[in-house]
This record gives sequence, structure tokens and C-alpha cells, in this order.
Amino acid sequence: DPVTTSPEKYRPHYHYTARKGWLSDPNGMVYFDGEFHLFYQHDDYVNVFGAMSWGHAVSKDLLHWQELPKAIIPDEHLGMCFSGCMVVDKNNSSGLSKNTLVGFYTSELPKQQQSMFYSLDNGRTFRKYNHNPVIPNSAGMSKDFRDPKVFWYEEQSLWIMALAGPERIEFWSSTNLIDWQLQSWFGEGHGAHEGEWECPDLRYMPIDGDSNNCVWVLIVSVNPGGPNGGSGTQYFIGDFLEVDGKLRFITKQTDVKWLDWGSDNYAGVGWTNLQDSSFGNRVFSIGWMNNWTYAYKTPTNQWRGTMTMIRELKLETFYEELVLTCCPAPIYKELVGDELANLDNVSLNKPTNIGSDLSASRIQIDFDTTQTDHVCVELSNTLGQLTRIGYCKSDGIFYVDRRKSGNQDFAEGFSGIHIAKATRTYNTITMDIFIDRCSVEVFFNNGEYAMSELIFPEEPLSIFKPVAQSSINPTNVNIRKMREITRL
Ligand code: FRU
Repeated sequence: DPVTTSPEKYRPHYHYTARKGWLSDPNGMVYFDGEFHLFYQHDDYVNVFGAMSWGHAVSKDLLHWQELPKAIIPDEHLGMCFSGCMVVDKNNSSGLSKNTLVGFYTSELPKQQQSMFYSLDNGRTFRKYNHNPVIPNSAGMSKDFRDPKVFWYEEQSLWIMALAGPERIEFWSSTNLIDWQLQSWFGEGHGAHEGEWECPDLRYMPIDGDSNNCVWVLIVSVNPGGPNGGSGTQYFIGDFLEVDGKLRFITKQTDVKWLDWGSDNYAGVGWTNLQDSSFGNRVFSIGWMNNWTYAYKTPTNQWRGTMTMIRELKLETFYEELVLTCCPAPIYKELVGDELANLDNVSLNKPTNIGSDLSASRIQIDFDTTQTDHVCVELSNTLGQLTRIGYCKSDGIFYVDRRKSGNQDFAEGFSGIHIAKATRTYNTITMDIFIDRCSVEVFFNNGEYAMSELIFPEEPLSIFKPVAQSSINPTNVNIRKMREITRL
């Protein structure tokens, strides 16, 4: 079979991958002049972490992407180009030019420092700023000093940069994007600290859609120390304000909150300037669907590394608790195609052969858990390789089990059953599952819990089985093919 034996067999249909080589963190996502930009950590020569550059792609609809030449590449003087961001300098605070795309990245020689670059032609070519770095790593500072994320802070007419220091997030301010002052840092005594803090994003977000009632949300990736080992993304709900003459992020949050409980959603941050697009003030983010524990070894060759689906993040009250919910952005509705199965043609506790279209599909399924302790969905192929997605009431967990999912022994730490700890018990469960050849992304209860997981079945997934003890289940099933996206 040319498809399953081809080195392309795991290439996703509707997730972004680079044509060739290594891809890791998403960088610099910005909307500008009718286009969505996506940059990313990239080396098109090797398929492991190499000479880190910024890969680049553009899209008019966030679905169809055109890969462009690399935006920035390493130089002898300041080294590689690590993660960062891009803003639209509408009023020319930098003096570079009005309405310019200004990017920030971490250069790494002789130490990690923040450097600037820009484009005067709608992001078709980029120049590094002549006087880099804009934030030097002065003597005595830590080796961890990276991943700048800049936003315009209306309240004080300042640019604010969040960046990752040693297990803390630093906040710097500037009036011109060039001269930066350290305001404060946040981290000690808060959140998960088993590893390095990376890739922050600070946002002002409405609670339950009420723009008169907003709070600040700080997203921080941590590696290792994620909810199921290795890389993970935590968030803090709090406030960003002036205290004792300095702008600070403060929070009363004492627990660790995870944006995604799966193993494969890392370094995600949100789009900038989306308010100028038809999506307005919504928050869309994207992550690297991988985990540093095994990222070098995932079984693909000419390309390695894929992005998650683009997510819409919202602050929503669930049972009196504020949750940063995570759902596929509305754009994917356009890709949902023919019905493959529904409640009438699947049976409880019996496998149904759906066909290989299941390997790029969306499964919506609801269960009633009043009389059953454990419900799950089994997805398998003709080789019996199986991924299980479920909820167990007595254990209080949602889970994805990929211990027998296919090729799972290529790296230590890949195989496993991954869990999300529920804070309450549920009498109904909804699952929205997106499959795309080498991944399952599961959104439980409308995004209350998300789990993103890579899987490498050696034949396409084709068999579906809902499992429950009580025969009233499932209460709803809808399985649809996801349309393939033509690469531009
Ligand atoms: C996160 C990260 C960043 C760094 C980049 C280098 O995955 O470690 O902190 O900027 O990768 O590629």
C-alpha cells in the first residue's frame, strides 16, 4: 500500500507541518493586512533540533497554509534564533516605519538575549535590527533568558514583554520597542516547578464573554514537570497592575492549572492583533504537538514535528470555578465532511469498521454516567493497535491510553496512559475527538479538559467501539470525515 508504507504515512491532513525537517515551538503568530502568519522553530536540513531558524507560513483563513522561505536564520555574531513573537507597530513607536511588523526572538550567543527584527514588506522579507540585542543578558544573569512575548498595554501606553527567566516570568516595559526596563517577575511559590519555565503569554480576557469583567491570564510552559511527565502548559489567573511603582502579575491561585492534560501540547501562545481580523477579540492559540521527552525520536523522517489544531481559549465558569477552556477554533467546521457513522449504526461494546477515513475524522460522543463507572471509546486498526479515550468516575479521571497505540516503543516515556484529574464527578460526559493520522486531540465537556496525544498506528485507524456498562449508552454519536487540506 503506497500510503501506509510511504514515509509520508503519518503526515497530518489538517495540522500544520513543515514540508521538510524539524519543527518545534510556534512563534510570532500575528494577523496583519489580511493574512495570518505562523512562524516556528525550524531546521529544514535536519530532523532533530539543529540550527534553529524561524520557519514561516501564511494563510488567509487559518486552514490553508503557504510555506514561505525562512524568516530569520542564525548569524555568526548572535547565534541561533529561538522562540519569540511579533507585533504590529501601528504608530511607529520604534521609528522603523509606520505599520511595521516587528518581531522579537532570543538570540543565544554568547548567552540568551532578546533581539529584534522587522519587515517593511508585509512579512515577505525580514531584517535583523542593527543594534541587537535590545535586551542584553548582563553579566551575572541566568542562562535562562528567553521567549519574549510582547503586547500593547493600553492602560499605561506601554509595550510589555513577558519572558522566561530562571523558573520565573519577567515583565519588561518599553515605550519604543527598543529600550526596555525590567518591571518585576513572577513565579516563586506558584505553579509547577519541576523544570524550566518557557514561552509565556499574558492576556486580558473576559469572564464568560463579559467584556466588562476581565482578568489577566498568564500561560507558562514547563519542561519537565508536565501533568503526565515531560513538557506541559500551565496557566495562572490573576491581575496585572502597578504595585509599589512596578507593574506586576499577582494571583491568589494556589493550585496548578493545566491548559492541556495530554502529553503533546507545548510552547503554545496566542495570535497577536486578531482584533483586526474577522475574529475580533477572540483568543486563538496554537502549540507544538510534542514533548521534549521523545521529540527527537518520533517515527517520521523527512519532516518531524506538527502543530496542534488552532485552539480558541475562553475563560468560563464551570461549577463555580473559572477554567481556561480550550476548544478547536471555529474554522475547523469548514473541514467537517461526510458522515461516517452515527448512533444508529454503532453498537455498545461492539467494534464497528468505519473504514480508513477514520484516520482523519471527528468523533462526537456523549455518555450517561449515572449508572456506569467507566465509559470509553476504543479506536483501533486492522492490526489491533488500539487507543482508548475514557472517563472513570470512581478514579475521578479522564484519560487517553496509548500503551498499545501502534509504534510506541521508539522512545522511552512515549508509551503510557495519561490522565486528567477531574475536580468533581460527572453524570454526563461529552467527548469531541479529532483524529489526524498521527494524533488524537480530545476535548471533554466542551473544552473543560483537553488532551492532545500523538499516536503512531502502523495501519490507519478504522475501527470504533464505544464501551460502557450501562446500555443506555452512548447517548449520541456522530462520526464525520475531516476533509483534506490542499497545501498552497
Ligand atoms: C521551548 C524552547 C524555548 C526555546 C526554544 C528553542 O520548546 O526550549 O524555550 O526558545 O525551545 O528552540
